[in-house]
Amino acid sequence: MTDHSSPLAMRTPAGAPHFHYQGDALYAEGVRLHDLAQTLGTPLYVYSRAALGTAWSAYQEAIGGRNVLVCYGMKANSNLAVLREFARLGSGFDIVSGGELARVLAAGADPSRVVFSGVGKQVWEMRAALAAGVKCFNVESVPELRRLSGVAAAAGKRAAVSLRVNPDVDAQTHPYISTGLKENKFGIAIDQAASAYELAATLPAIEIVGVDCHIGSQITEVSPYLDALDKLLGLIDRLALKGIRLRHLDLGGGLGIRYDDETPLAPSALLDHVFAQLNSRGYGHLELVLEPGRSLVGNAGVLLTRVQYLKLSEARNFAIVDAAMNDLMRPALYEAWHGVLPAMVRNQSPVLYDVVGPVCESADWLARARALAIEEDDVLAIESAGAYGFVMSSNYNSRPLLPEILVDGTETHLIRKRQTLDDLIQGESIPA
Ligand code: LLP
Repeated sequence: MTDHSSPLAMRTPAGAPHFHYQGDALYAEGVRLHDLAQTLGTPLYVYSRAALGTAWSAYQEAIGGRNVLVCYGMKANSNLAVLREFARLGSGFDIVSGGELARVLAAGADPSRVVFSGVGKQVWEMRAALAAGVKCFNVESVPELRRLSGVAAAAGKRAAVSLRVNPDVDAQTHPYISTGLKENKFGIAIDQAASAYELAATLPAIEIVGVDCHIGSQITEVSPYLDALDKLLGLIDRLALKGIRLRHLDLGGGLGIRYDDETPLAPSALLDHVFAQLNSRGYGHLELVLEPGRSLVGNAGVLLTRVQYLKLSEARNFAIVDAAMNDLMRPALYEAWHGVLPAMVRNQSPVLYDVVGPVCESADWLARARALAIEEDDVLAIESAGAYGFVMSSNYNSRPLLPEILVDGTETHLIRKRQTLDDLIQGESIPA
């Protein structure tokens, strides 16, 4: 075994062991990140293929032989190479748009393992998903149910439907990523769900197959899941009395990852609790669907960025880097904490810096008050950037979208090219 620790390293990488120090250099698997930055330029997203596999295995080992379908919440990272990797491993997919459907099909995924979530499905998206033959639509309102019924009837098909119920539970996470409270826009209120199912049962182009909820993201406690499950099982009991039987239960809500010092809940802990509750209530036969995004990819990626200037002042020291809020939006949007690691460790005293980008917004920061031993031109790795990193990026300030690299052992694959300045204006025109 390689010794992954370095006496000079400041903290164990969140993506360990796939991201680790050897001596004073940070590696992704067998690739030295400083070299990658030299060759390909910065900023740059780097993912570890082995880390994707390890995260996937944690779910598979937790599942054992039980009837569980993992549908990767692909909004977290939808690069085709990442999707292909999960498809190869046998994953299903949770999609939320016609664009995600197109991607997942392009990656060669099996549409019969795709669930389609989202509060605002449009007619064209419904048509495309029916034509592809998705496993089910997670329907979030009665008007959506009626629209889907019409679209399916016109296409001469029956749409498999699971109603997304809003269980009104507090996932104890950031308000922007909590989705299962009654004041959130998502799902059908739990007390209206039974009547929505009764309506669904009367619509000829609708086939009821399941029930579904999603309570939030970066969840680190098991109790919100069990509260939601309890409410869903109560609903299933009531539906059974009306002769409405379901085949699957989709327990959405994403397990957290370690960004800083969180103790994430392991898939095995979650599943053991969930199956204990399912079995004790007599629902062990239901297929369980999970929709993890972040926990499959979050710590499989870093964002490499280069220090441009060190700006020291009495009030604050700034490390101005070449990545910005448009490349990684989470700090600006949620005040999210991401670890910052030097690609090469320096043997000098650290200084407190705010790591900020070049965008003209005070919200353009990536990390605050970090003790870093750095100089201008050093390369830094912003950790835990595999989920909700590239996918949330934009061209703000006319900054080209970043390249993405997949590391596999000592090999590197360019899985997305850096946008060029020509790409930036492509598709625009000036009226004569
Ligand atoms: N399924 C549905 C219907 C979802 O809405 C989500 C996430 C997922 C699955 C995946 O959840 P995960 O396992 O990643 O928690 N941009 C935010 C996260 C937003 C999550 C929204 N829904 C962030 O950067 O923290």
